[in-house]
Amino acid sequence: MSGVTDLPFRRLIRELSCDCAPLFVSEFLPAGNSVFLTSANLRAARFDREEEPFCIQLFGHSADKLAGAALQAQELGAAFVELNAGCPAPKVAKKGNGAGLLKDLPNLAKILRAMKASIKVPLFLKCRLGWDENSICINEVLEIAEGEGVEQLTVHGRTKEQGYKGLADWNVIGEIAAKAKISVIGNGDINSAEKALDAIRDYGVKGVAIGRATLRNPWIFLQIKNPSRKVKPNEVCNAVLRYNELMLQDGFRPTQALGRLKQLTSRLCQGLPEFRLKILRCENHDEFLDNWANLSESAFSLPYSVGS
Ligand SMILES: Cc1cc2nc3c(=O)[nH]c(=O)nc-3n(C[C@H](O)[C@H](O)[C@H](O)COP(=O)(O)O)c2cc1C
Repeated sequence: MSGVTDLPFRRLIRELSCDCAPLFVSEFLPAGNSVFLTSANLRAARFDREEEPFCIQLFGHSADKLAGAALQAQELGAAFVELNAGCPAPKVAKKGNGAGLLKDLPNLAKILRAMKASIKVPLFLKCRLGWDENSICINEVLEIAEGEGVEQLTVHGRTKEQGYKGLADWNVIGEIAAKAKISVIGNGDINSAEKALDAIRDYGVKGVAIGRATLRNPWIFLQIKNPSRKVKPNEVCNAVLRYNELMLQDGFRPTQALGRLKQLTSRLCQGLPEFRLKILRCENHDEFLDNWANLSESAFSLPYSVGS
């Protein structure tokens, strides 16, 4: 997730997941510039040895540029390269990138062919069901993906127009999984270990991709392996402090870290509205850390469960 799953966040998830860490995917990186991956993107493409095999995700709409960026991702050590055909943000999709690729399937096919030809590592595709409810094209996308040698298709069960509204349509994801010859990963609204396991059982997907729930419950991967694993209040307190440490170690300025701490804690503290408000009102990094240290343990010992 862009603006979320950078190296410090993934390090946190990995530490909290013990040996149950998922396949990590980078934030999406643009392949639209004259140099394929700029220095900022190269920074965003960094990953730890412990994250291997790692997947670098790219977006764009030019077959040549995406082929070049895919090669660069492979040279950086990515074990998989993924094309994003799902981002609904207007500044991305309106230019024909992300979910915008679903409006021009011949170009999608051309891009996949060019990327496939430029790399030896497996090529993945992540997409939505279509642009809007009148132009659902996931069946065609599956055919194209299979024809162009894509090895894994992740389907977010919403259209571009839906954004994040409504619920992901898991019935359609299940239909795609049933007819696909390649691996299909289901995505959308998996917010608990139980839902992840149910989705794999009920919809025949090879796995699930989990996005937003990692902010609400960073222990979700641990709980998928061990559903009875409860999270203790002091673990929640320490995880936030550890996230802060990981960001500062990676060169975040305190103001940047504050933004990310609020991003995590606003979801983590959803079951504690008063405490959440207090934390979100903190004006600087020091104030946040003081409040967190003084208040969090008592707040989390109230009846509360992570992810609720
Ligand atoms: C802030 C934010 C950033 C995202 N960035 C990306 C991205 O870079 N690449 C991608 O494939 N999906 C991205 N997504 C979409 C998620 O990966 C996922 O498909 C979507 O949120 C639905 O899954 P969920 O219900 O598990 O969150 C992003 C979502 C959010 C909320």
